[in-house]
Amino acid sequence: MPHSFFHFLLISLFLYTNCIAHRYTFTVKEVPYNKLCSTKKILTVNGQFPGPVLKVYKGDTIYVNVRNRASENITMHWHGVEQPRNPWSDGPEYITQCPIRPGSDFMYEVIFSIEDTTVWWHAHSSWTRATVHGLIFVYPQSGTPLPFSKPDHEVPLVFGEWWKEDVREVVEQFTRTGGDPNVSDALTINGHPGFLYPCSISADTFDLTVEKGKTYRIRMVNAAMNLILFFSIAKHSLTVVAADGHYTKPLNASYITISPGQTLDALLHADQNPNHTYYMAARAYHSNPVIRFNNSTTIGILRYISSSNATTSSYPNLPNYNDTSAAFGFFTSIKSLYSGKVSVKISRRIISTVSINLLTCPNNSCQGPNGSRLLASMNNISFVTPSHVDILRAYYLHIKGVYGTRFPAFPPVVFNFTGEDQPLFLLTPRLATEVKLIKYGEAVEMVIQGTSLGGGGIDHPMHLHGFSFYIVGFGFGNFNVSQDLSSSYNLKDPPYRNTATVPRNGWIAIRFIAKNPGVWFMHCHFERHLTWGMNVVFIVKNGRGLNQQMLPPPPDLPPCY
Ligand code: C2O
Ligand code: CU
Repeated sequence: MPHSFFHFLLISLFLYTNCIAHRYTFTVKEVPYNKLCSTKKILTVNGQFPGPVLKVYKGDTIYVNVRNRASENITMHWHGVEQPRNPWSDGPEYITQCPIRPGSDFMYEVIFSIEDTTVWWHAHSSWTRATVHGLIFVYPQSGTPLPFSKPDHEVPLVFGEWWKEDVREVVEQFTRTGGDPNVSDALTINGHPGFLYPCSISADTFDLTVEKGKTYRIRMVNAAMNLILFFSIAKHSLTVVAADGHYTKPLNASYITISPGQTLDALLHADQNPNHTYYMAARAYHSNPVIRFNNSTTIGILRYISSSNATTSSYPNLPNYNDTSAAFGFFTSIKSLYSGKVSVKISRRIISTVSINLLTCPNNSCQGPNGSRLLASMNNISFVTPSHVDILRAYYLHIKGVYGTRFPAFPPVVFNFTGEDQPLFLLTPRLATEVKLIKYGEAVEMVIQGTSLGGGGIDHPMHLHGFSFYIVGFGFGNFNVSQDLSSSYNLKDPPYRNTATVPRNGWIAIRFIAKNPGVWFMHCHFERHLTWGMNVVFIVKNGRGLNQQMLPPPPDLPPCY
């Protein structure tokens, strides 16, 4: 064989293998699924619920062709992927792109950089993410070891929320009436509600078979729409080793708390009596008794190979629904594996309230409290999502009138944010599309303050696109500038995450360096709060250097009209 031909063969073989690992096709289509004794059509990727797992190496760039073969608009978001200089493929509808219309395609370029461990993807238009979501496993580049001993197996674990009715109906109803959305009918583990639900046949329970003595790396995400969850496995403790795509100090936990949007990697040691079976369970953490929520429990089964005659089963102990110290005890035990990376000098401070609000309706005709409409806000602005052009395009092409640049850096009215009887006028938000402009490279600190407006307050899992941030501070009650800045911050090994939970009537402080030019959405990852406007957009300007500037838009960006 001629030498050069052999070379050609080798090279093309190499390119080919490279290609199949980096290109994916996501066909979004409706498929019937039967749960809880009723069948409905749900939106899926490639017919799967939960959707397919993507596997990448750290630093990879992948291309995902999203083909919309459904009857509604769709966009896709790569949650926890920073996408350096590439907001064009970030996904939130009318923030960084116009939707992919039925029958159209868009090729997302997903650029992995600093992410390790586990992140995820989900749809980002209306409530489509309810069923359109999946995990992303990130592996270290070859030659880089894991900071923990290599597990024997990997287990994807996706928590979800299931409505018997069409999710589009749920959205249509609560946005029309102004009331609360209908509570979901079940929680799910990998799509299975588990045997505690009426009509949930035993085959619709997630089943994990393990081998005694082996270690399993559970890669989990809370893909539920509106619920923070507690999760535990009977008689087995978990060792948390990563959160939101970044390694953590190993943490032994008998239960975990996971907010919508968050991912965790936990090692499960199969070290118990193999002749028993063990249940795993997840249910809500919910701090406000006046707000309705899904208080049911989803169950999965852990069994050992060869335990054919297993007779005893045990249930795990989960904290009570309202156990705030259990929920935040877990969150605050999570620490970065690596210390000393937090910026101490801050060049831009932002303090924002997060509130539930009420808008008066003509003749009190809405279905929120006292006939009003429920809304939500940051610094009293209830974010209005543009409906014809996305903010990124408007920014890039200098299109006027799409957004304002006056998101206030501080609460417009200072009051006792967490007090009990709030004057009524504080309830009404301003409806607007205001962004916050930030210079390239600024060291940002943002304090997010929960308020008791609109029902006494509730927790808020706040998510930022385009960045991970250090959660340097946390507290209950009102943030106190003079005290809290100095005393309680952890600047040594705070968790590095992309979704942080603001406690009911409390606050968190986060820090990040704005070295990612683009248009980046920040919002509560409770879907109803997002719909009600608990959102803001950061526009990080270009820096001077060539590699400090946004990439040009892709040629097939979905058109706006
Ligand atoms: Cu997980 Cu804006 O999203
Ligand atoms: Cu919220």
